Amino acid sequence: MKIKEKELVEKAKEVLKNSYSVYSHFKVGAALQIKDGTIITGTNIENASFGLSNCAERSTLFTAYSMGYRKEDIVAFCVLTPLDHLVSPCGACRQVMSELLLPETPVFMAYGKDKVVKTTVQELLPYTFRKEDLNV
Ligand code: THU
Repeated sequence: MKIKEKELVEKAKEVLKNSYSVYSHFKVGAALQIKDGTIITGTNIENASFGLSNCAERSTLFTAYSMGYRKEDIVAFCVLTPLDHLVSPCGACRQVMSELLLPETPVFMAYGKDKVVKTTVQELLPYTFRKEDLNV
């Protein structure tokens, strides 16, 4: 399966226009690739009750899962900010990514004009809380 890194970055950039970030004005886009080549995108969606805001990473993953896809179907993930410095997924998103993506899934963190840092889900959150931990 070919990872469409460039296309993922482009789609994550395109979806920035849909970011509902009326409070922070901090736009984030994300995109993931399904193994059949489909790309699913999402943005951050804020709320007047600030704590209810949803990050772009989670919007994207929840959309994919709502469409019926599961972690085994997802071959790459990308998060993008248009700023000049690297922005990596927040702690809450790392926890969600660690359950809804495979540990070795590549994660592209895109920023600036065309900069991309590549990592994996496992690298982002090595000691994650797992669903297996609930089996006491
Ligand atoms: N945000 C994301 O969408 N992803 C991140 O990884 C960090 C933060 C959003 C949440 C909020 O809408 C805005 O950025 C400022 O925190």
